[in-house]
Amino acid sequence: MSETTGYQPPSTTQFGAPAVSDRNSLSVGSNGPLLLHDVRLVETLASFNRERVPERNPHAKGSGAFGVFETTEDVSRYTKAALFQQGARTDMLARFSTVAGEQGSPDTWRDVRGFALKFYTTEGNYDLVGNSTPVFFVRDPMKFPHFIRSQKRTPASGLRSADMQWDFWTQNPESAHQVTYLMGERGLPRTWRHMNGYGSHTYMWVNEAGEKFWVKYHFHTEQGMEFLSNEEAEKLAGSDAEFHRRDLFDAIERGEHPSWTLSVQVMPYADAKTYRFNPFDLTKVWPHADYPLIKVGRMTLNRNPKNFFAEIEQAAFAPSNTVPGIGVSPDKMLLGRVFGYADAQRARIGTNYQQLPVNKPIVKTNDWTFDGNMTFEHSGDAPVYAPNSFGRPWSDEQGATDDGWESDGEMVRSAYALHAEDDDFSQPGTLLREVFDDAQRAQFVETVAGALSGITHDVVLQNAFQYWKNVDKEIGDRIQATVLAGKGDPQVGIDNEAAEEPLGVR
Ligand code: HEM
Repeated sequence: MSETTGYQPPSTTQFGAPAVSDRNSLSVGSNGPLLLHDVRLVETLASFNRERVPERNPHAKGSGAFGVFETTEDVSRYTKAALFQQGARTDMLARFSTVAGEQGSPDTWRDVRGFALKFYTTEGNYDLVGNSTPVFFVRDPMKFPHFIRSQKRTPASGLRSADMQWDFWTQNPESAHQVTYLMGERGLPRTWRHMNGYGSHTYMWVNEAGEKFWVKYHFHTEQGMEFLSNEEAEKLAGSDAEFHRRDLFDAIERGEHPSWTLSVQVMPYADAKTYRFNPFDLTKVWPHADYPLIKVGRMTLNRNPKNFFAEIEQAAFAPSNTVPGIGVSPDKMLLGRVFGYADAQRARIGTNYQQLPVNKPIVKTNDWTFDGNMTFEHSGDAPVYAPNSFGRPWSDEQGATDDGWESDGEMVRSAYALHAEDDDFSQPGTLLREVFDDAQRAQFVETVAGALSGITHDVVLQNAFQYWKNVDKEIGDRIQATVLAGKGDPQVGIDNEAAEEPLGVR
């Protein structure tokens, strides 16, 4: 709705002239044919035809809210980023999502949840696009589209397929850690308010003196972690597909503002070379005994969107949006994402999506990009080239970048070099044996067995049995026995309230 100058007919055309009717189209007599020069009808139908933008390819179903991030601690020895200086308060937007389902899919299908944050900082927008788990399924970006397609729908039937899902996972054993999380209770958070969020990747922080550190972000829910049982989730998927979206919106309307504590793990720059796990491998965590949590601050969501489409659907979160004092890392997945998101958003929303209010930084920009569809902001008649003799500034830093790292060697196509304790199965095995308790392990076996029961190809089923035996022989045997006895049942669930503590520290 546009602002007006006092002149206000009940409704207008898109160009502000009075609209004569929003109820009856123009026809030749009451029963006669319609007329093409009925501007109001043509505008109404044509605009309706263009109401949708394509949904996000992954993470299509979600919602979010605005809030504030407060840096409560002094972490200036690790980063000079303005938003992480003690006392800084930064307006922000969060969007939570499921990964595989489409726009209309149920919120309570078992899945990893997206945890995307946009901070409107005094140095430009900083986006942290993370998930509800600290690891991921693969560690090379070439595999990502294959992974997503395997979790979505088959070409022929358009149905989701246990064969595709498990075939992909078992063909890519580095997925075992994330699949263990997914089949555990984190795969079914009770609400978005009751789940943790993780940056997952290793990022770089740089302090005022130019010292560099590797960091991992952990957002721990202050509402406490809570989960749904398989049975509850299954029921809700049918009775209230918007359960998580509704819960967040209603809680904020009631004045219950959910909050999360941000802590980071910090690794000294030089440790990366010799750490027992490759610290840039997204399928691994850094045990807290090696790098303990350091508290940074608190995020609180306190304002609902006024318009879901304009402020949530058109929101564009991208790992390429960094600010001084925060950089990326040699994590190949992260480097792939730095290209992927802005490109997806130019296609999904439009060339000038960064000019929309929800995406626009609070600082003045001088970005040297021009024109394109729907240009709204522009640089008037200022020079359009750099350098120039007419006073428009341009940047010209040279030499080593302050958030870079050293790298040499010939160009190769290769997996990461392994560190001393790198393999695909140890960390998921530890998660099952040392973090899960007996009840959680029993539930895990039921859930995996239930998920495997949809497999129709024997080779995929045999590979899945072996995959779990590689993670943990005893658990693998139990899964196999449950499947073969026909007992796995995704409907069977238990509540695991006792799980909060051990999982809370991961
Ligand atoms: C190479 C790997 C990856 C690629 C190429 C990729 C690509 C994408 C793309 C194209 C979108 C849709 C963006 C849009 O249309 O606005 C998206 C959404 C998203 N991705 Fe990824 N992704 C990757 C890995 C990851 C990882 C590792 C995480 C979490 C740690 C993640 C979290 C998310 C989230 C939370 C969203 C939804 C953002 C929102 O709420 O708008 N993705 N991804």
